[in-house]
Amino acid sequence: MTNSPTILVFDSGLGGLTVLREVVTARPDARFVYVADDAFFPYGHHSEDEIIGRVVPLMGELIGTHDPDLVVIACNTASTLVLSHLRAAYSVPFVGTVPAIKPACAQSRTRRVSVLGTKGTVKREYTKALIRDFAQGCEVTLVGSPELASLAEAALGGKPVSDGDILAELAPCFVGDAADASARTDTVVLACTHYPLLLDRLKRLAPWPVDWIDPAPAIARRVSDLLGPPSGGAAQSGAEMIFTSNRVHGLSATLTPFFGGRAVA
Ligand code: DGL
Repeated sequence: MTNSPTILVFDSGLGGLTVLREVVTARPDARFVYVADDAFFPYGHHSEDEIIGRVVPLMGELIGTHDPDLVVIACNTASTLVLSHLRAAYSVPFVGTVPAIKPACAQSRTRRVSVLGTKGTVKREYTKALIRDFAQGCEVTLVGSPELASLAEAALGGKPVSDGDILAELAPCFVGDAADASARTDTVVLACTHYPLLLDRLKRLAPWPVDWIDPAPAIARRVSDLLGPPSGGAAQSGAEMIFTSNRVHGLSATLTPFFGGRAVA
């Protein structure tokens, strides 16, 4: 591995930036390439075969072009489906993003946990297996949101997004007796990397307070463990943003904080 490892972070759009910012903090020594497959966004609206057929060859091209030391699939909708295919096809280490059902169920006091993800993620056999293996007696409610990822993209791009539109996607997560804090949902898993972009609004609009579980810090720790100890100085020049649609992003000021203040090429 070179002194300054290259980490490629991949998502269908801008949601993976919520994972990227944690990885950047954990690995200031690395060079970052962020790829948004916006030409195929949203993944939540595609069939499983379409996503496998899209992501596996695209990743081959990206590995060929950028020669990463590690790839983060910062997308639940893709990770719950393509990780095994990617690992079979390419020798680069992959770190995925999958619904944090195990820690959520371990910490829930009311034993009521909701998993908010795309329609694709909540349908996956992978997600159902996580519930079978790790629900630990909790009642797990799967909420497949058709529009929240697109609403998060719009909000990040500075477009108006109404509270009502967000609440319509969020409300099914809140299960049980609203008047009894011991008999209602107390933990919501953010099972789509786009949703932490809206966290302040999710908290404000929630019918009652809950713990929101975002796996990004755990993913950053996993990346760091796999890369081994940092080599020293930060590679401050190394940050690149690629859209598969080839559009030129007009978001520089918005993106900079996710890249730890680096200039984004
Ligand atoms: N960011 C993706 C995820 O974590 C989903 C958004 C999409 O539907 O493309 O699942």
